Amino acid sequence: MLFFTPFLSLLAFVPLGLSYSTLSDSTLKSLPSPGDDFDIHKGAILAPILRTRVSGTPGSAAVLQHFVDFFKTHLPAWTIELHNSTSTTPVSNGKEIPFVNFIATRDPPGSRSGEVGRLALVAHYDSKLTPHGFIGATDSAAPCAMILHAARSIDAALTKKWEAMVAEGADELEEQKGVQILLLDGEEAFKVWSDNDSLYGARALASTWESSFHPAMSTYRTPLDSISLFVLLDLLGASAPNVPSYFRTTHWAYKNMAKIEHRLRELGAFKSSPNHAIKLAKRKNKKPRTEIPFLVDANKGDDTFVGGFVQDDHVPFMARGVEILHIIPTPFPRVWHELDDDGEHLDMDAVEDWTRLVTAFAGEWMELEGFFDFKKDKRKYMDLDKTEFEIP
Ligand SMILES: *[C@@H]1O[C@H](CO)[C@@H](O)[C@H](O)[C@H]1NC(C)=O
Ligand SMILES: *[C@@H]1O[C@H](CO)[C@@H](O)[C@H](O)[C@H]1NC(C)=O
Ligand SMILES: [Zn+2]
Repeated sequence: MLFFTPFLSLLAFVPLGLSYSTLSDSTLKSLPSPGDDFDIHKGAILAPILRTRVSGTPGSAAVLQHFVDFFKTHLPAWTIELHNSTSTTPVSNGKEIPFVNFIATRDPPGSRSGEVGRLALVAHYDSKLTPHGFIGATDSAAPCAMILHAARSIDAALTKKWEAMVAEGADELEEQKGVQILLLDGEEAFKVWSDNDSLYGARALASTWESSFHPAMSTYRTPLDSISLFVLLDLLGASAPNVPSYFRTTHWAYKNMAKIEHRLRELGAFKSSPNHAIKLAKRKNKKPRTEIPFLVDANKGDDTFVGGFVQDDHVPFMARGVEILHIIPTPFPRVWHELDDDGEHLDMDAVEDWTRLVTAFAGEWMELEGFFDFKKDKRKYMDLDKTEFEIP
């Protein structure tokens, strides 16, 4: 039989030392939508990424600059680092190609780096060399945009939470949690996917961090150890994704994200749902339709993991013991590695839903309930309840 556990009992599955707490219904519903910033032609966040951005080309440099500008302008409290490496590729004729990973980190004030465990939100920003002109909207322009929006949406709440902790004189033993954004370069193969021709940026970064030691006696030995959970988003933004839970050791985190999805659907805040108000308004037959979740394995048993997974940027990190939550659909989107994986073929409702899911997950991970202020910035924090019912 199937036991349905109330979500609060999920706390029991959280590995020792990690706390996690749910957001309220009203917070879930009020989380800011990306709105115009995800317009595929003019949107401040997404449009600049929807171009060719093959590693080592001007397109790649322009997208990297977009990330830097975004953080410098909107998120000045985050520390930005660029991690550089070079490698030959099967098509570079012996020439070294540069790979630049973008890293933005926000830790609690006054914390020392070896003492902070971080939620890493990860996507790759390079695009595939072939077919020529390939944009890679789901692969992974949209996931990068989702992460930028999520970072912006939790930033003020993080500030508020940490200010409150400082004001209370929180003691040093308190769990120190931070957030890290990794936008990785060189995920795609230049010729044919192999261990050498793929994951250029991820391999270099995992290797660098493996031997970058925090001060002796630190809680976390290296920046790799500092990653409590590596959440990798890839191939997101097409309709009706089917995203399995790949790893037993992070199934508890997957279930937390699935629970958020379930709640968002019940709250009417999941735009791609067939029962969303906008869809119902356009449909004669108002009978509720079956909800097919993105995260299909919410009820998968912990003992049913067989070990299959998709090769992606997490591999060099996982090989070094980092805990991975891989959010990638199987099967891949129909447009996978095709020229029509472009802005026009994104399902913007699904893009927005993923964005809300990831934002909420980060908010729960960072225990931000009570610290959001949705009225402060009207433009940014478009209220779902207000915008949704403006149906012509
Ligand atoms: C890394 O590469 C970027 C972009 O090419 C460059 O601006 C930056 O100075 C480099 N950083 C280091 C530490 O070499
Ligand atoms: C790929 O890696 C293998 C093993 O590390 C090495 O022997 C081989 O020469 C590499 N191939 C290329 C094309 O770099
Ligand atoms: Zn790809």
